[in-house]
Amino acid sequence: MSDIWHNAMDHAVAIARQAGDVVREALRDDRMVMTKTSSVDLVTQTDQKVEKLIIQSVKEKFPTHRFIGEESVAAGEACDLTDSPTWIIDPIDGTTNFVHGFPFVAVSIGFSVNKQMEFGVVYSCLEDKMFTARRGKGAFCNGNLLQVSEQEDIRQSIIATEFGSSRDPEAVNNIFSSLRSILCIPVHGVRSAGSAAINMCLVASGCVEAYYEIGIHVWDVAASSLIVSEAGGVLMDVEGGAVDLMSRRIVAANRRTIAERIIKEISSFSPPRDDTPPQQ
Ligand code: IPD
Repeated sequence: MSDIWHNAMDHAVAIARQAGDVVREALRDDRMVMTKTSSVDLVTQTDQKVEKLIIQSVKEKFPTHRFIGEESVAAGEACDLTDSPTWIIDPIDGTTNFVHGFPFVAVSIGFSVNKQMEFGVVYSCLEDKMFTARRGKGAFCNGNLLQVSEQEDIRQSIIATEFGSSRDPEAVNNIFSSLRSILCIPVHGVRSAGSAAINMCLVASGCVEAYYEIGIHVWDVAASSLIVSEAGGVLMDVEGGAVDLMSRRIVAANRRTIAERIIKEISSFSPPRDDTPPQQ
């Protein structure tokens, strides 16, 4: 049977590679840093330039498709996921890494139809790793099939998480309370790549058993959520049940029992949803 989104996925891979060239080139220049919601929520002209490049290029080929892009939403556009074909874009996932030259920076492009992810492309530009997944057809890195870890014992696992961009004492306490409980299970280690998309691809690749975070956005994890599930992993909400990509909470794991063990240790809270319109 023919795959109707085959051309769109090929285009996503090509444009992610092109975006990666722009990101690598920009690393050689001075990076002008601006801030968004707080002094540690960073953005650069390269984030904005790459997002424009991707959206313009997709619009030329697929003029009826819709977009959710990190920088477009920051500029005031709606973050609505409808049934229409929608490209969900994070031009640079790992902006803080990009600013500092810390080598985990990804271009993330997810594609959803009827609110279901059809394909996901995450290009880790500095590692030159192209992660891809097509619904029902597996996940790959540079063409090699990905499979999550077979580890069943959380005490022999590595868990990835992040510290987010809120320095509100209560939010920081929640993060450290969860981290302490998970570390003391005990697990082999806890890691942070500085990019939600790359953390998720590490789960899909089998070198990290699970990743969790509260505070991510739909553009950080849309593409990589399909990469994890197509590699055999599971996605859950931090309180259990199905993940809701607009809820800004996620647990991605190699297996359900490990996800559930993490959920037991997390101090959960609910940040404002991505699809809640800003208050006037
Ligand atoms: C951020 C990164 C970071 C995660 C944040 C994200 P950005 O995305 O993925 O690892 O902790 O929650 O917002 O701002 O670099 O695109």
